[in-house]
Amino acid sequence: MTDRPRVWISRPLFDDIIDGLRQYCDVEAETTDHSWTPEQIGEKLRDKTGAVLGVSDPLNAAAIAQAKSLRAVANTGVGYNNLDLPALAAAGIIATNTPDVLNEAVADFAWTLMLATARRVTEAERYLRDGKWRGVSYHLMLGAEISGQTIGIYGMGRIGQAIARRAVGFSMPVIYHNRSRLDAALERECRATYVSRDELLQRSDFLVLVLPYSAETKHIIGRAELDVMKTSAILVNIARGGIVDDAALIDALRAKRIAGAGLDVFENEPALDPGFLTLDNVVLTPHIASASTQTRRAMTQLACDNLLAALGFGPKAGHPPNVLNPDAFGASRS
Ligand code: 8YV
Repeated sequence: MTDRPRVWISRPLFDDIIDGLRQYCDVEAETTDHSWTPEQIGEKLRDKTGAVLGVSDPLNAAAIAQAKSLRAVANTGVGYNNLDLPALAAAGIIATNTPDVLNEAVADFAWTLMLATARRVTEAERYLRDGKWRGVSYHLMLGAEISGQTIGIYGMGRIGQAIARRAVGFSMPVIYHNRSRLDAALERECRATYVSRDELLQRSDFLVLVLPYSAETKHIIGRAELDVMKTSAILVNIARGGIVDDAALIDALRAKRIAGAGLDVFENEPALDPGFLTLDNVVLTPHIASASTQTRRAMTQLACDNLLAALGFGPKAGHPPNVLNPDAFGASRS
């Protein structure tokens, strides 16, 4: 037996980075990707001191109650709707995430989806691969203009701001809506104008969603919201499945009530509503907005740094940089 902490890593990450954890902990690292159920996660964590989880690995109150020796959980991602934070805090288990290191990669990808959807890139490639191209035609794959159009950003945290900063190169006015308005200096820096939610929906040529998922944001874009958008508008979701009502979106796209959608996230991932696959006016990607090698390595590093610090090791011992539930520090397990 050893008294080194026992750590479970739920997903294959970057081995050379995980070696940093191995210096202090006994690590059980998964080598293939699984869609873990809460029960399986509970089983894995029964004898663990720490865990590095992916953002779609659910950690619920029942699993937390079983994991009697668990002291810290590091999410590899900025979103944390997979974690029951109140139950973790009540059990004195520190939870962390990986903000900021992914802002630029995710902002790049929001633009990737905007451009690809407006200019029908994946549809055009399918056409070409299918051997349908018969030569230049001035009507072939006509898309939407991008430069000079209005971009609307719903959720103006650090990723939203990074998306806004890129708009200057496309001469695009930026409007945004957020729970709280940015201070004037930041608004100027982002060249962004605060508008009401209704105005955002009505005026955006491109509407980009950057909201966290919660009970309040579930289906925040549904039939009523899609109905007030321009028929020429393009919706982009790089945030979370479930903030959009997928069935309502498929109906709106099919009826051309909006022009198109670029989607990296879906309700019930990885199961995709088959309705999406029948549409040409969508660009669909499998939750890869943060997937540049550099960014995914930085996320892995930050998750490992957070976990080590939360378990009391390394240069930041006892002071993990990205704690989500500071109330966990005062709590102790019953
Ligand atoms: C995922 C994300 O972590 O950070 C988040 O909240 O959703 C992403 O960065 C990543 O795509 C792995 O699923």
